[in-house]
Amino acid sequence: MHTTEAHPLALAVNAIEKQGYAIMDDYLSSSNMAALATIMKEKWFAGQMVSAKTGKAALKNQTIRGDFIAWLDENDSQPTVQAYFRQMELLRLMLNMQLLMNVQSLETHVVVYPVGSVYQKHLDQFNSGATPHLQQRQLSASLDLNPNWQAHHGSALRLHLAENTHIDILPKSGRIVLFLSAKFWHEVLPATHERLSLTGWFRTREQSIF
Ligand code: OGA
Ligand code: MN
Repeated sequence: MHTTEAHPLALAVNAIEKQGYAIMDDYLSSSNMAALATIMKEKWFAGQMVSAKTGKAALKNQTIRGDFIAWLDENDSQPTVQAYFRQMELLRLMLNMQLLMNVQSLETHVVVYPVGSVYQKHLDQFNSGATPHLQQRQLSASLDLNPNWQAHHGSALRLHLAENTHIDILPKSGRIVLFLSAKFWHEVLPATHERLSLTGWFRTREQSIF
């Protein structure tokens, strides 16, 4: 008898439709994840990453967010970076087909959270004319690059669901957390070990003619 098994990405998109967020493991193969982590660590060691600025006031304030970032180029020639962008493109198409999200572009940066750093509670989409760029963010995607992470290493992504409820999602290599950018306040809890991840946002078109 023929059985249909839903594609893992389709299950994630179903979860987003139902609850606004999804947690998916093994987003990329473990060999891809290991290679991706190595490439990103090289950026860090080569001093190619800069202290992150908070969006609203473009203010460098390490107590709000203590992470360091580098933007990823979609045309990067390294196969594992391409594997990431291919998987994200598949996800983009599914979001548009299943949820009619009409997301057109993706921006991604690699992030390092040094020991002791946090990213305080925030929204990824601001409803302010001063930051049109951030208004276009529709779906946030945090892909973790840390193998062998332990709960006591901290740096969980805390997703605030409703009044006084939240879930804490621990880093795990290959785990991606997807959530609606306009809807979910979230924060990164203090890290006791250095954490590395890729954060991406799907955006609607820059300008609308309508
Ligand atoms: C962000 C963010 C979370 C993470 O960059 O806006 O919330 O898991 N990052 O890195
Ligand atoms: Mn965020």
